[in-house]
Amino acid sequence: MSFIVAIDGPAASGKGTIARALADHFGFHHLDTGLLYRATGARGGDPVEAARSLTAADLARDDLRSAEAGQAASRVAAIPEVRAALVDFQRRFAAQKPGAVLDGRDIGTVICPEAQVKLYVVASDEVRAARRAAELGADPGAMLVQLQERDGRDSERAAAPLRPAQDAMVIDTSDLAIDEAVALAIAAVDRLR
Ligand code: C5P
Repeated sequence: MSFIVAIDGPAASGKGTIARALADHFGFHHLDTGLLYRATGARGGDPVEAARSLTAADLARDDLRSAEAGQAASRVAAIPEVRAALVDFQRRFAAQKPGAVLDGRDIGTVICPEAQVKLYVVASDEVRAARRAAELGADPGAMLVQLQERDGRDSERAAAPLRPAQDAMVIDTSDLAIDEAVALAIAAVDRLR
């Protein structure tokens, strides 16, 4: 049986950094599931059709990291048929040996509720806005407004809203260095392996 680590949380909480570090440490595969929604939004046209026909080239576009791509992603991510079109790919990815780390919004709740380890990574709105602004070279105030709008949409949608799985371990990275957050996550996996 393969080992699955499900990591969820709001934008810029540190979940992607933790996911990559865990995958490196344990030799697991890693999927940033936000990319699937970003690529779907970036294709334009009918989002359901886009989600059903995503290719590796769509996922490799270098404009997917922008704040605009994030906003477009969260709009198409509220459409149930878009989410449904992406389920099988994520579950097949998760089943790879020796293990996989998937990060997103609904991994522990919908995609892989059977994951051996579930983490829910959070940080204060201000810390998250400052981090994302530094990454993108943007204004922290404007970033705060955008993040709150996107988190609101992700949390309030009917289809697979952002929320912690009942059995998720919460890691608040507001006052943690990257190494400290990663060490907590590694310890959580080590306890269950
Ligand atoms: O994680 P990232 O910021 O790249 O995600 C972009 C958007 O994709 C999120 O705001 C959310 O609306 C959507 N998403 C989702 N479910 C996931 C991953 C991302 O709805 N598992």
